[in-house]
Amino acid sequence: MVSYVTFGRYVMIAITAASGELGSRTVAAVIEQGFPPDRLVVCVRTPEKMAAWAEKGVVVRPADYEQPETLEAAFEGVERVLLVPSIAPSLDRVRQYENVIEAARQAGVGHIIHYGLVPVTVDSPFLVTPFLVYAESAIRTSGLDWTILRNSLYMDPIADWVPNIIEMGTIPYPTGEGRCSYISRDDIARAGAAALTTDGHEGQVYHLTGPQSLTTADLCDVVSRITGKPVTDRNASDQDYIDVCMAEGESEWLTHALLTLYHTIRKGLLDVESDGVERLTGIPAESFESYLQSRLDS
Ligand SMILES: NC(=O)c1ccc[n+]([C@@H]2O[C@H](COP(=O)([O-])OP(=O)(O)OC[C@H]3O[C@@H](n4cnc5c(N)ncnc54)[C@H](OP(=O)(O)O)[C@@H]3O)[C@@H](O)[C@H]2O)c1
Repeated sequence: MVSYVTFGRYVMIAITAASGELGSRTVAAVIEQGFPPDRLVVCVRTPEKMAAWAEKGVVVRPADYEQPETLEAAFEGVERVLLVPSIAPSLDRVRQYENVIEAARQAGVGHIIHYGLVPVTVDSPFLVTPFLVYAESAIRTSGLDWTILRNSLYMDPIADWVPNIIEMGTIPYPTGEGRCSYISRDDIARAGAAALTTDGHEGQVYHLTGPQSLTTADLCDVVSRITGKPVTDRNASDQDYIDVCMAEGESEWLTHALLTLYHTIRKGLLDVESDGVERLTGIPAESFESYLQSRLDS
């Protein structure tokens, strides 16, 4: 399914923030899908972090969202860019997007693919929402071809948290009866790689979600079933969640940000089930139960 340009040559593609959790998984997925490493540019602040990929023939170029000149050089000869946002505060990210989009235009990039988040609506209480609305609008009006991938919440951190969850006997998400279709980073990465390496995604918005929307009570049931330990939903309040975050040394800012994200679930705005992963990759997204089982088996 990989795409060619005329005369049998692969287009040159790039992934930004390629050293991060999502970026590095997407690099791996692109290579696993059979794309030639020497046509893949990974753009990172610290090229040394990508030495293992450089040894496999991947092109590693320095690129810092805060330094426009590095971006234009990194995008030289590139046709498609997958833009992975940094985790900087929203106002910094606006400047970073302006830098990336302008550098892409200057370098002659034809197509930007963007990892965003479900949902992009001003009704969302999530404090990063204004940035997400801006980001999609900036990409759609950039004058370049675009594809938007709206990711649901990662299931990976829940698996990371299982020892604490067992100790607490609950998952203290203040989500009420709200549902969210959690997805693994690996599934997002496979879908992102497919959007980057295959044709026909211009002007498309894909929701990348897990196969099933789950309440926190459902998550508790799955963890309990798989671990054999008692884990039950206790309908956590905001204060219960704040207390757990403070006890674990989480920053006040991140605690507040996550709280607003859980309010978004409580409001039903992450209750979105989509076949976006399957449409892009031919394989459905993994369920939370299957993902958790394989994480605990490994
Ligand atoms: N769907 C979800 O549940 C969920 C959860 C968490 C985050 N996210 C979002 O998904 C995106 C990627 O997340 P992740 O898990 O991959 O995060 P991550 O592992 O923290 O990676 C962040 C990446 O951003 C890069 N970066 C930071 N500042 C940069 C700059 N000035 N210029 C260029 N690169 C810069 C980092 O590079 P260095 O290696 O140089 O630091 C790193 O590669 C973020 O937008 C994040 O907000 C989504």
